[in-house]
Amino acid sequence: MTTDLNLTELELRAIGAELNLADGHPRQDLTKSQCDVVAQFPDLFWFSRQQIFSEIERKAQTAFLTALGQHMAPVQAGRVYSVYSSSVATMVLANALRGHRVAMLHPTFDNIHAILSKVVPVMSMSESEIAEIRFSDEVDKQATCLFITTPNNPTGWVLTQSALEGLCCYCLRKGKVLCLDVSFRGFDIRAQFDHYAVLERTGVEYVLVEDTGKLWPLQELKLGFLAVSEGFREKVHHCLSDVLLTVSPFLLQLVEVFSLDGAAGGFERLHALIAENRKMIVDALDGFEDIKVPDCDARISVCRLQLPTSLQAEKAYKFLTSRGVHVLPCRQFYWERPEDGARLIRIALARNKKVVAEFLSQFSMVLPNIRETRASGR
Ligand SMILES: Cc1ncc(COP(=O)(O)O)c(C=O)c1O
Repeated sequence: MTTDLNLTELELRAIGAELNLADGHPRQDLTKSQCDVVAQFPDLFWFSRQQIFSEIERKAQTAFLTALGQHMAPVQAGRVYSVYSSSVATMVLANALRGHRVAMLHPTFDNIHAILSKVVPVMSMSESEIAEIRFSDEVDKQATCLFITTPNNPTGWVLTQSALEGLCCYCLRKGKVLCLDVSFRGFDIRAQFDHYAVLERTGVEYVLVEDTGKLWPLQELKLGFLAVSEGFREKVHHCLSDVLLTVSPFLLQLVEVFSLDGAAGGFERLHALIAENRKMIVDALDGFEDIKVPDCDARISVCRLQLPTSLQAEKAYKFLTSRGVHVLPCRQFYWERPEDGARLIRIALARNKKVVAEFLSQFSMVLPNIRETRASGR
């Protein structure tokens, strides 16, 4: 049963499949300027061997974070730690949070919940509760840490600057730590206001998980970063030392060069591709009243489709999978109430347009099945 498997297990089934629109990893063709960088890999490799590690790391972190609007990032203060992926960052963070009680966003990518809940007690909070800074009694009274994914995967919901300011004040007043997973911020300029300026100004204790891994189709050559407030530096530093000496200076070098390319127009081209792919799906489903694209204003590299019933969603998922077309069911994102995601499937958009077009052609064969199921009342 797909409901027993986690999202990564389902994504694994899609690796090497005919049509993989399951994982949120970037699989589109490289742009011309990205190909030019790949052609320079040998030079970058030898260059990175000759540099001082701390210099390479500082330059990579600065290039990446400033390309995404994060000018006040605590790079200079030595409070950004490099890791091999955002999941590794979350694992380190979970260990640094031992003894805390964490309120985390529901729904969100299931591995965040899986990692945290093995180490700390976890309770849920919704996007609207966060936006309005109006929490359940349980969260308000018992949580010592809030963990928020912004932009959120799979919904594309974004924490606004004024909501972040309000949250910082709330956390400061209540003595709570604020943790943000901003892995998808590269897709959405609404998530690129200077978070660190807000966090540092208010003085809240914070940890941010940053991620290069959703942006560039580099065959999983990627890094995560943990950016922390002064009060969390020692804990995170120590927990990180349990698992890692340093990341690869070559990879840091790649992150710097791809960030510079992103800032010089690469991110705009990426945004255009994602917007075109999303529009292709929205346009194709225009006229099918029963099938909704619930997050029309989302900018991240995934798109949810809502089917009329959970049975139809399950049938559509199975039909597509049987034809080698892989997407994700959404129950697993709803780690507390899986039924809330039962009518939804998620389509990855960081793909070539022809992959999305092929998905739509396969999906069009599902539509008569949907009507048939409805007609017979099953
Ligand atoms: C919001 C979010 N954070 C972290 C991750 C984990 O990323 P990775 O598999 O590169 O560690 C994911 C995966 O999709 C995600 O959606």
